[in-house]
Amino acid sequence: MRPMIDLKRQFLDIKEEIFPILNEIFEGSQYILGKKVSELEKKISEYHCVQEAIGVASGTDALHLSLLSHGIGMGDEVITTPFTFFATVEAIIYAGAKPVFVDIDPETFNIDVAQISHNINENTRAILPVHIFGHPADMDAIMEIAKGHNLKVIEDCAQSFGALINGKKVGSFGDAGCFSFYPSKNLGAYGDGGMITINDSKAAEKIRILRNHGSQGSYIHKLIGYNSRLDEIQAGILLVKFKRIDEYNKKRREKATLYNTLLNDVVKCPQEKNEITHVYHQYTILSEQRDSIQKHLKEKDIPSVVYYPVPLHLQEALRYLGYKKNDFPVTERISSQVLSLPIYPELAEEDIISTSEAIKECLKG
Ligand SMILES: Cc1ncc(COP(=O)(O)O)c(C=O)c1O
Repeated sequence: MRPMIDLKRQFLDIKEEIFPILNEIFEGSQYILGKKVSELEKKISEYHCVQEAIGVASGTDALHLSLLSHGIGMGDEVITTPFTFFATVEAIIYAGAKPVFVDIDPETFNIDVAQISHNINENTRAILPVHIFGHPADMDAIMEIAKGHNLKVIEDCAQSFGALINGKKVGSFGDAGCFSFYPSKNLGAYGDGGMITINDSKAAEKIRILRNHGSQGSYIHKLIGYNSRLDEIQAGILLVKFKRIDEYNKKRREKATLYNTLLNDVVKCPQEKNEITHVYHQYTILSEQRDSIQKHLKEKDIPSVVYYPVPLHLQEALRYLGYKKNDFPVTERISSQVLSLPIYPELAEEDIISTSEAIKECLKG
């Protein structure tokens, strides 16, 4: 079976740059929160035109610490989408708050902004949009709703490093932008890692304290914190890949354009409005014949994945929230029709052509 994402191929392209950096880190023997982390934080804050970026141990922690640093906790409600990776709601629950789901837009798979306002009540403290698959959520509308109700906005940018709305980067719209460096992400480390982009220096200081056992100086603990530090090895690797991120995203967009040309007549391809620059963390098609397409691809050793087969409101672990089937009809329909196809910067054109031909062949009967 071909891979969904070929990380080895990318490693071979950059290994001549990776090894000297690893060597420098091993020689220096500073492994946690050192020079490479600071350099990466500086570069990522400049890239996003925000005051600060703060390295943490994962995307989940980025969300969790962002919520805590904005005072969100017990008894608070956070509005989010049921069509996302489970970690989005875990972070809300870790903070002590309650996730409140809102159905999604059928074109972008992002939170449907028209349905946010009537879910706001006196306990609502924040909106947590997810730029799912690399397609930005409608941030202008979300920021306006948040302003009108005095809510915080925490952006889940785990799948959308470098995505833009009218030239402005996701992660720079809300009160905090939360990134994951899980290896398969657009900007992926060789282990776990995360980053928060932020403009509020008070909240940023709290995150820096929380990420390191609540400590502000040596063995002086202001808060009960966490072990959520980004390590130097991951930061060093990320610095090499960060230099190439715009090129990587451009290549993903080229692959998506080719898929669109080949598949537009037979399935619903990802949509992208003029003001949007999608980064195609996933290239996800919609088809009522999704299951037969996936079976046919598998027979031909072509990988595909259903992200996500069970929406969050129907997950067993979240049963206590009291949601039931048909609560979010768009999300449920989309979950039954989505199929993500291989996409990564180094993906060969022939593979896109053969995958598309296999899909057409299947649909012809
Ligand atoms: C949408 C979304 N949110 C949050 C996360 C959590 O990131 P991590 O795995 O780095 O904790 C991920 C990725 O795994 C994700 O895809």
